[in-house]
Amino acid sequence: MTKVLLLIGSPRGRKSTSANVGNYILEKMKENGLETNSLLIRNQISNEEKISQMLEKIQEADLIILTSPLYDDCQPYIVIKTMEKILEKNVKLDGKKFIPIISCGFPEPHQISAVTIPIYRKFVKTVGLKWAGSLAIGGGEMFNRMMQESGKKLEDLGKVVEKLLNALNQIIEDLSSGNNYQDVELRILPDFWYNKIMVRIVSWMNTKGWKKMAKEKGAQVDAVPYSQ
Ligand SMILES: Cc1cc2nc3c(=O)[nH]c(=O)nc-3n(C[C@H](O)[C@H](O)[C@H](O)COP(=O)(O)O)c2cc1C
Repeated sequence: MTKVLLLIGSPRGRKSTSANVGNYILEKMKENGLETNSLLIRNQISNEEKISQMLEKIQEADLIILTSPLYDDCQPYIVIKTMEKILEKNVKLDGKKFIPIISCGFPEPHQISAVTIPIYRKFVKTVGLKWAGSLAIGGGEMFNRMMQESGKKLEDLGKVVEKLLNALNQIIEDLSSGNNYQDVELRILPDFWYNKIMVRIVSWMNTKGWKKMAKEKGAQVDAVPYSQ
Protein backbone atom coordinates (compact mmCIF):
# COMPACT_ATOMS: atom_id res chain seq x y z
CA MET A 1 0.00 0.00 0.00
CA THR A 2 1.28 3.47 -0.91
CA LYS A 3 2.42 5.37 2.19
CA VAL A 4 1.72 9.09 2.07
CA LEU A 5 3.35 11.59 4.41
CA LEU A 6 1.99 15.12 4.68
CA LEU A 7 4.54 17.63 5.95
CA ILE A 8 2.88 20.87 7.05
CA GLY A 9 5.45 23.63 6.71
CA SER A 10 3.55 26.58 8.14
CA PRO A 11 4.85 28.03 11.41
CA ARG A 12 1.16 28.80 12.11
CA GLY A 13 0.45 25.13 12.68
CA ARG A 14 -3.03 23.65 12.50
CA LYS A 15 -4.83 26.95 11.83
CA SER A 16 -2.85 27.58 8.65
CA THR A 17 -3.94 27.41 5.03
CA SER A 18 -1.20 24.79 4.62
CA ALA A 19 -2.71 22.52 7.29
CA ASN A 20 -6.23 22.85 5.90
CA VAL A 21 -5.18 22.23 2.30
CA GLY A 22 -3.00 19.27 3.35
CA ASN A 23 -5.63 17.69 5.58
CA TYR A 24 -8.25 17.93 2.83
CA ILE A 25 -5.96 15.97 0.50
CA LEU A 26 -4.96 13.46 3.14
CA GLU A 27 -8.53 12.62 4.19
CA LYS A 28 -9.50 11.88 0.58
CA MET A 29 -6.37 9.84 -0.03
CA LYS A 30 -7.20 7.77 3.05
CA GLU A 31 -10.69 7.17 1.62
CA ASN A 32 -8.94 6.01 -1.57
CA GLY A 33 -7.17 3.33 0.46
CA LEU A 34 -3.74 4.93 0.81
CA GLU A 35 -1.87 4.79 4.13
CA THR A 36 -1.61 8.35 5.42
CA ASN A 37 0.41 10.16 8.06
CA SER A 38 1.06 13.81 8.80
CA LEU A 39 3.53 15.94 10.72
CA LEU A 40 3.63 19.61 11.64
CA ILE A 41 7.22 20.55 10.89
CA ARG A 42 7.19 23.24 13.57
CA ASN A 43 6.67 20.52 16.24
CA GLN A 44 9.51 18.39 14.89
CA ILE A 45 12.33 20.84 14.42
CA SER A 46 13.26 21.97 17.95
CA ASN A 47 15.69 19.18 18.88
CA GLU A 48 17.69 16.39 17.26
CA GLU A 49 15.44 13.61 18.62
CA LYS A 50 12.34 15.09 17.01
CA ILE A 51 14.22 15.80 13.80
CA SER A 52 15.31 12.14 13.67
CA GLN A 53 11.70 11.00 14.19
CA MET A 54 10.63 13.22 11.27
CA LEU A 55 13.42 11.94 9.03
CA GLU A 56 12.39 8.35 9.86
CA LYS A 57 8.82 9.08 8.77
CA ILE A 58 10.13 10.67 5.58
CA GLN A 59 12.21 7.59 4.89
CA GLU A 60 9.21 5.30 5.40
CA ALA A 61 6.96 7.21 2.95
CA ASP A 62 6.48 6.57 -0.78
CA LEU A 63 4.94 9.97 -1.43
CA ILE A 64 5.78 13.18 0.44
CA ILE A 65 3.33 16.07 0.20
CA LEU A 66 4.65 19.37 1.48
CA THR A 67 2.14 22.14 2.13
CA SER A 68 3.75 25.42 3.02
CA PRO A 69 3.40 29.21 2.83
CA LEU A 70 5.65 31.50 0.83
CA TYR A 71 7.85 33.64 3.08
CA ASP A 72 9.73 36.49 1.41
CA ASP A 73 9.56 34.75 -1.99
CA CYS A 74 11.12 31.66 -0.42
CA GLN A 75 10.62 28.75 1.99
CA PRO A 76 9.92 29.43 5.69
CA TYR A 77 12.94 28.80 7.95
CA ILE A 78 11.53 25.55 9.38
CA VAL A 79 11.17 24.11 5.86
CA ILE A 80 14.70 25.19 4.91
CA LYS A 81 15.99 23.54 8.09
CA THR A 82 14.16 20.30 7.21
CA MET A 83 15.71 20.35 3.74
CA GLU A 84 19.16 20.97 5.22
CA LYS A 85 18.73 18.13 7.73
CA ILE A 86 17.71 15.72 4.96
CA LEU A 87 20.94 16.59 3.15
CA GLU A 88 23.12 16.61 6.27
CA LYS A 89 21.85 13.21 7.48
CA ASN A 90 22.03 11.75 3.98
CA VAL A 91 18.45 10.43 4.17
CA LYS A 92 17.83 7.80 1.48
CA LEU A 93 15.04 9.12 -0.72
CA ASP A 94 15.67 7.47 -4.09
CA GLY A 95 12.42 6.80 -5.93
CA LYS A 96 10.13 8.55 -3.47
CA LYS A 97 7.79 11.13 -4.90
CA PHE A 98 7.56 14.74 -3.71
CA ILE A 99 4.98 17.44 -4.41
CA PRO A 100 5.11 20.96 -2.99
CA ILE A 101 1.77 22.76 -2.55
CA ILE A 102 2.55 26.36 -1.72
CA SER A 103 0.28 29.29 -0.90
CA CYS A 104 1.05 33.01 -0.75
CA GLY A 105 -0.66 36.25 0.24
CA PHE A 106 -0.55 38.12 -3.06
CA PRO A 107 -3.06 37.06 -5.73
CA GLU A 108 -0.44 36.14 -8.37
CA PRO A 109 0.76 32.52 -8.14
CA HIS A 110 3.83 33.60 -10.08
CA GLN A 111 5.13 34.97 -6.77
CA ILE A 112 5.59 31.29 -5.88
CA SER A 113 6.64 29.72 -9.16
CA ALA A 114 9.34 32.33 -9.89
CA VAL A 115 11.75 31.43 -7.10
CA THR A 116 10.57 28.96 -4.50
CA ILE A 117 9.37 26.22 -6.88
CA PRO A 118 12.77 26.14 -8.69
CA ILE A 119 14.42 25.82 -5.24
CA TYR A 120 12.23 22.80 -4.46
CA ARG A 121 13.06 21.36 -7.88
CA LYS A 122 16.77 21.70 -7.21
CA PHE A 123 16.33 20.11 -3.79
CA VAL A 124 14.41 17.16 -5.26
CA LYS A 125 17.15 16.59 -7.83
CA THR A 126 19.93 16.93 -5.24
CA VAL A 127 18.52 14.38 -2.78
CA GLY A 128 17.23 11.83 -5.32
CA LEU A 129 13.50 12.40 -4.95
CA LYS A 130 11.08 12.24 -7.90
CA TRP A 131 9.12 15.36 -8.86
CA ALA A 132 5.36 14.61 -8.74
CA GLY A 133 4.15 18.08 -9.80
CA SER A 134 3.51 21.30 -7.90
CA LEU A 135 0.69 23.68 -7.05
CA ALA A 136 1.19 27.43 -6.55
CA ILE A 137 -1.85 28.95 -4.84
CA GLY A 138 -2.00 32.72 -5.26
CA GLY A 139 -4.08 34.53 -2.63
CA GLY A 140 -4.09 31.61 -0.16
CA GLU A 141 -4.31 33.96 2.80
CA MET A 142 -7.86 34.85 1.83
CA PHE A 143 -9.05 31.31 2.62
CA ASN A 144 -7.41 31.44 6.00
CA ARG A 145 -9.20 34.64 6.96
CA MET A 146 -12.51 33.22 5.73
CA MET A 147 -12.06 29.98 7.69
CA GLN A 148 -11.11 31.84 10.89
CA GLU A 149 -14.01 34.30 10.58
CA SER A 150 -16.71 31.77 9.67
CA GLY A 151 -15.43 28.76 11.64
CA LYS A 152 -16.02 26.70 8.47
CA LYS A 153 -13.78 24.04 6.95
CA LEU A 154 -11.96 24.83 3.72
CA GLU A 155 -14.28 22.67 1.62
CA ASP A 156 -17.35 24.42 3.06
CA LEU A 157 -16.39 27.95 1.96
CA GLY A 158 -18.59 27.76 -1.15
CA LYS A 159 -18.00 29.14 -4.63
CA VAL A 160 -14.83 31.03 -3.71
CA VAL A 161 -13.00 27.76 -3.03
CA GLU A 162 -14.22 25.94 -6.16
CA LYS A 163 -11.06 26.41 -8.27
CA LEU A 164 -8.82 25.37 -5.38
CA LEU A 165 -10.88 22.24 -4.63
CA ASN A 166 -10.83 21.30 -8.33
CA ALA A 167 -7.03 21.50 -8.28
CA LEU A 168 -6.77 19.54 -5.02
CA ASN A 169 -9.19 16.87 -6.29
CA GLN A 170 -7.06 16.47 -9.41
CA ILE A 171 -3.93 16.07 -7.25
CA ILE A 172 -5.76 13.43 -5.18
CA GLU A 173 -6.93 11.56 -8.29
CA ASP A 174 -3.54 11.67 -10.05
CA LEU A 175 -1.40 10.74 -7.08
CA SER A 176 -3.81 8.10 -5.70
CA SER A 177 -3.67 6.29 -9.04
CA GLY A 178 0.13 6.36 -9.16
CA ASN A 179 0.40 9.16 -11.73
CA ASN A 180 2.01 12.57 -11.40
CA TYR A 181 0.22 15.92 -11.21
CA GLN A 182 1.27 18.83 -13.45
CA ASP A 183 2.95 22.09 -12.41
CA VAL A 184 0.00 24.41 -11.89
CA GLU A 185 -0.24 28.11 -11.10
CA LEU A 186 -3.67 28.72 -9.58
CA ARG A 187 -5.36 32.10 -9.91
CA ILE A 188 -8.12 31.95 -7.37
CA LEU A 189 -9.52 35.46 -7.85
CA PRO A 190 -11.70 36.64 -10.77
CA ASP A 191 -9.61 37.66 -13.82
CA PHE A 192 -9.98 41.43 -13.40
CA TRP A 193 -7.78 41.28 -10.28
CA TYR A 194 -4.88 40.28 -12.52
CA ASN A 195 -5.02 43.09 -15.07
CA LYS A 196 -2.17 45.59 -15.03
CA ILE A 197 -4.20 48.54 -13.78
CA MET A 198 -5.68 46.56 -10.91
CA VAL A 199 -2.23 45.23 -9.94
CA ARG A 200 -0.91 48.85 -9.85
CA ILE A 201 -3.81 50.05 -7.71
CA VAL A 202 -3.47 47.18 -5.23
CA SER A 203 0.34 47.58 -5.06
CA TRP A 204 -0.06 51.31 -4.43
CA MET A 205 -2.64 50.69 -1.69
CA ASN A 206 -0.51 47.98 -0.07
CA THR A 207 2.61 50.14 -0.11
CA LYS A 208 0.69 53.00 1.47
CA GLY A 209 -0.74 50.70 4.16
CA TRP A 210 2.63 49.12 4.97
CA LYS A 211 4.36 52.52 5.16
CA LYS A 212 1.67 53.76 7.55
CA MET A 213 2.04 50.65 9.72
CA ALA A 214 5.85 50.97 9.73
CA LYS A 215 5.65 54.66 10.69
CA GLU A 216 3.26 53.87 13.55
CA LYS A 217 5.80 51.37 14.84
CA GLY A 218 8.59 53.97 14.70
CA ALA A 219 10.42 52.50 11.69
CA GLN A 220 12.35 54.64 9.22
CA VAL A 221 9.93 54.18 6.34
CA ASP A 222 12.13 54.92 3.33
CA ALA A 223 15.35 53.43 4.74
CA VAL A 224 17.58 51.70 2.19
CA PRO A 225 19.91 49.81 4.54
CA TYR A 226 21.84 47.84 1.91
CA SER A 227 22.29 50.64 -0.61
CA GLN A 228 25.99 51.25 0.17
C1 LIG B 1 6.99 36.36 7.33
C2 LIG B 1 6.03 36.30 6.16
C3 LIG B 1 6.50 36.49 4.87
C4 LIG B 1 5.62 36.43 3.78
N1 LIG B 1 6.10 36.63 2.51
C5 LIG B 1 5.24 36.61 1.46
C6 LIG B 1 5.72 36.86 0.13
O1 LIG B 1 6.89 37.08 -0.12
N2 LIG B 1 4.80 36.88 -0.88
C7 LIG B 1 3.47 36.64 -0.67
O2 LIG B 1 2.69 36.68 -1.63
N3 LIG B 1 3.01 36.34 0.58
C8 LIG B 1 3.85 36.33 1.64
N4 LIG B 1 3.39 36.05 2.90
C9 LIG B 1 1.97 35.63 3.07
C10 LIG B 1 1.83 34.11 3.21
O3 LIG B 1 2.58 33.40 2.24
C11 LIG B 1 0.35 33.72 3.05
O4 LIG B 1 -0.39 34.42 4.01
C12 LIG B 1 0.12 32.22 3.15
O5 LIG B 1 -1.12 31.88 2.55
C13 LIG B 1 0.11 31.75 4.61
O6 LIG B 1 -0.04 30.35 4.62
P1 LIG B 1 -0.18 29.55 6.00
O7 LIG B 1 -1.49 29.96 6.62
O8 LIG B 1 -0.15 28.13 5.58
O9 LIG B 1 0.98 29.92 6.87
C14 LIG B 1 4.25 36.14 3.99
C15 LIG B 1 3.78 35.94 5.31
C16 LIG B 1 4.65 36.04 6.38
C17 LIG B 1 4.13 35.82 7.79
